[in-house]
Amino acid sequence: MASLPTMIGELRSQFMRELNEALTSKDLEALKVKYLGKKGPVQSLMHELRHATSEERPQLGKLINDLKEELLSHCDHSLHRVKLQEQNARLATEWVDVTLPGRKHNLGRAHPIQQMLQRILDILIGMGFSVRYGPDVDTDYYNFGGLNFPEDHPARDMQDTFYLENGLLLRTHTSNVQVHAMEQFEPPLRIVAPGRAFRNEDISARSHIFFHQVEGFYIDKGVTFADLMAVMEEFLSKILGEKVETLFRPSYFPFVEPGMEVDVRCTACKGKGCKLCKHTGWLEILGTGMIHPNVLRNGGIDPEIYSGFAWGMGIERLTILHYDIPDIRYFTENDQRFLEQFP
Ligand code: PHE
Repeated sequence: MASLPTMIGELRSQFMRELNEALTSKDLEALKVKYLGKKGPVQSLMHELRHATSEERPQLGKLINDLKEELLSHCDHSLHRVKLQEQNARLATEWVDVTLPGRKHNLGRAHPIQQMLQRILDILIGMGFSVRYGPDVDTDYYNFGGLNFPEDHPARDMQDTFYLENGLLLRTHTSNVQVHAMEQFEPPLRIVAPGRAFRNEDISARSHIFFHQVEGFYIDKGVTFADLMAVMEEFLSKILGEKVETLFRPSYFPFVEPGMEVDVRCTACKGKGCKLCKHTGWLEILGTGMIHPNVLRNGGIDPEIYSGFAWGMGIERLTILHYDIPDIRYFTENDQRFLEQFP
C-alpha cells in the first residue's frame, strides 16, 4: 500500500483536475460533496490513520487536515466566483419595467342568488322562522308519495324528474323537507329550508334544469288561511317593496288544500308582455296553501289538532325581478361581466 503522504498528493492532483472541469455552481457543489462528504476520500484517509504508529499519527493527521482545509477553500472560492458569474448572466437576461402599472386585484363577492337568499332568510328569521336543510338526493316518498302525490301524477314522469339508481331521485322541489321535518320535530314548527331543486326541463330564458328554492312552513294549533295571507303579504312587501303588484290565484298542488300561486308583475316588460313572462305580463314566483291533512298525517302530526300552511318560491325568479335580469341562464354561466354587477 502506498504511504499516506503519497496518497494525499495523488488525491490533491486528482481534485485539482476535477476542479478545473467543474464549470457551474452545481458541478462545484457536487465536487465538494464528493471529496469532503462523509463517504468521500478525505474521510477514508482519516480511517487509514488507524494503521499508523502513535508517533507518526499526529503528523499524518495534520497533513490530512491541511488537505481538507485546502480542498474546502478551493471549493468555496470557486463557488463564490461562479455564483457571481451566474447571477450576472441571469441579470443580463432579466429586466423589470418599473413603469408598468400595478396589477388589479379582483375582490370576491357573493353570487347574486346567495345575496338574494340572504335577504330572504334575514326577513323570515326576523319573523320567527328557523333554518333547516333537506337532502338534494332523496326518495320518491319524501319528494312525492309522502306529499300526497297520486301514483300516476304527471310530475313523477321521467320528463320532469331526474331519477337515480336504487329508487333515489334529485328532488324536484324543496317541499321534500316538509315530511322530514315533521318526523324530526314536534309542532309548533316554523321552518324555512333553502336549497337546490332539479327538473328535467328545456333550458330557456325563464327555466333551468337546476335552480334554487326556499320552502317555508308553519304548523301549530289553530293556524288558518288568514295567517297564511298575513305572512305572505308581509314577506312579499318586504322582499319586493310595497310598489310591486302581486296576484294571488287559486292553483293545485297535491300537498296543499286550498292551494294558490302568487304572480308578480313582470318587471322586464312592466306587464306589457315579453319573452320572460311568456307574454302574460305576470311572473309566477311562489306556490302556497294550507298543508293537506294527509301530509300532516304522513309526518306523524294529527290534523284534528294541528293545521299549517306552506309555501315554496324560486330564488332565481325573485332575483330576476329584483335586478331586472332578462335571462335565468346568466346565473350559471359565471361570466365575470355579469357577476361584477352585484357588489
Ligand atoms: N313545491 C312547489 C313547487 O315547487 C311549491 C309549493 C310549496 C306549493 C309549498 C305549495 C306549498 O312549485
